[in-house]
Amino acid sequence: MTVLVFLGLILAFCISFALLKWSDLKYRRKRLPRGTMGWPLFGETVDFLKYGPDFMKKQSAKYGSVFKSHILGCPTVISTDQELNRYILMNEGKGLVPGYPQSMLDVMGKTNIAAVHGSAHKFIRGSLLSLVGTAAIKDQLFPDIDKFIRILTNNWDGKTIDIQEKAIEMAFYVAFRQIIEAECDLIYKAFKEEFDKVATAALSLPINIPGTNYYQGLQARKNIHKILRQIMEERRASRKTHNDMFAELIGNEKSRYRLTEEQMFDQIFTILYSGYETVSITTMMAVKYLHDHPKALQELREEHLAIRERKKPDEPIDWNDYKSMSFTRAVILETSRLATIVNGLLRKTTQDVELNGFLIPKGWRIYVFTRELNYDPVLYPEPYTFNPWRWLDKSLESHSYCFLFGAGGRLCPGKELGMVKVATFLHYFVTKYRWEEVEEVEILKFPRVEVPNGLHIRVSKH
Ligand code: HEM
Repeated sequence: MTVLVFLGLILAFCISFALLKWSDLKYRRKRLPRGTMGWPLFGETVDFLKYGPDFMKKQSAKYGSVFKSHILGCPTVISTDQELNRYILMNEGKGLVPGYPQSMLDVMGKTNIAAVHGSAHKFIRGSLLSLVGTAAIKDQLFPDIDKFIRILTNNWDGKTIDIQEKAIEMAFYVAFRQIIEAECDLIYKAFKEEFDKVATAALSLPINIPGTNYYQGLQARKNIHKILRQIMEERRASRKTHNDMFAELIGNEKSRYRLTEEQMFDQIFTILYSGYETVSITTMMAVKYLHDHPKALQELREEHLAIRERKKPDEPIDWNDYKSMSFTRAVILETSRLATIVNGLLRKTTQDVELNGFLIPKGWRIYVFTRELNYDPVLYPEPYTFNPWRWLDKSLESHSYCFLFGAGGRLCPGKELGMVKVATFLHYFVTKYRWEEVEEVEILKFPRVEVPNGLHIRVSKH
């Protein structure tokens, strides 16, 4: 019996060794960076997701700052070299386009901004900026952001809330209501339910059989199209005017950005998907850091109380107030840096590309791992300390190696909108309330920042 077990173990070892070797041989090419490809099909995805930054550290210590692997279903080169990362982000035209997973492109649509390049990207990005850029925020979006956040943060006095849950709810609700104003709650609920399936499918294996997340996501996408088509027809049949992004999209006959129905719907998916998680996580982590750093909270509160003093009790805040919130901006940037809301960016080669003397074959993914730059002691002295004051020196935000919102032609078009939302939330939150945490929390940092059991806070009137 023992001999059989022993032989079995040897056999298992030999098969594992052969499979790992096969995987390495399959991807062996001249001039590729060093590294391991892991198991056939799965590659090193489990280690990548489980150990995240430690996986990157371990592999780069062994193979150098640029190494190969097989993650998320694709042969991938991982770059922790910040010089090279900047080059990759700034040079999309040299065959280095966004490389997000196939399932994400499928549920978000063929014309969604991450799926298009060159002149098509310029066009879609221009249209998006006309909806969410600074001019739109100033003239159209701010009053609604103020109104919804004020309503959503009302009545928290004396309650214990999960700020993670509230931040997610708020980010989605505000984004949705700006796209489709004042439709009934039933539409919102139906839309949200379907959109959650789309968001889950975006990060799933693209297996299109009933029961899989991917299949459900594709069905949900069709259902959302039905909802949008119905609203569009009702609006076209009625004379009522609407002041929302959907109205801008439908009524754009005269604008530079005349979109097809598919493009319009894909823009809606993009705005909801891109601005949902990033804004909610930043909101939650800002609350966490401010709780842990009373001096920063005091300075932030003073900034907002000064704004309130200039206003009548229920007067909304506006773009000019936002522009005066320099410490708040610093808090948001420091939160984004210290929590690393975005760990890295994915690119795909559309041709063989030479990088740092390596030759990356066409069709490979490149994971531009930007996280470590957030803890660079030269750029950010005492990098693990929450120090918003460092951002009062404005040159830091425009530094060529500040990738909090990406870089190059894909720099986040929703940066200001995201900041305005978090800043408006902080305005109402710190002027109305004080809060304490109910229990110790465990914060996961990779692949996304989350608190598995929620971040519960007890809120009372300020
Ligand atoms: C405040 C939180 C936010 C953070 C930290 C953030 C971060 C980023 C980063 C790092 C990128 C670069 C992606 C890449 O190069 O592959 C990006 C792109 C993008 N972001 Fe944001 N973002 C935020 C808010 C928003 C909001 C509110 C929107 C809503 C419209 C938005 C829409 C987009 C879009 C559409 C892109 C793709 C741009 C393109 O491909 O040209 N983001 N964002």
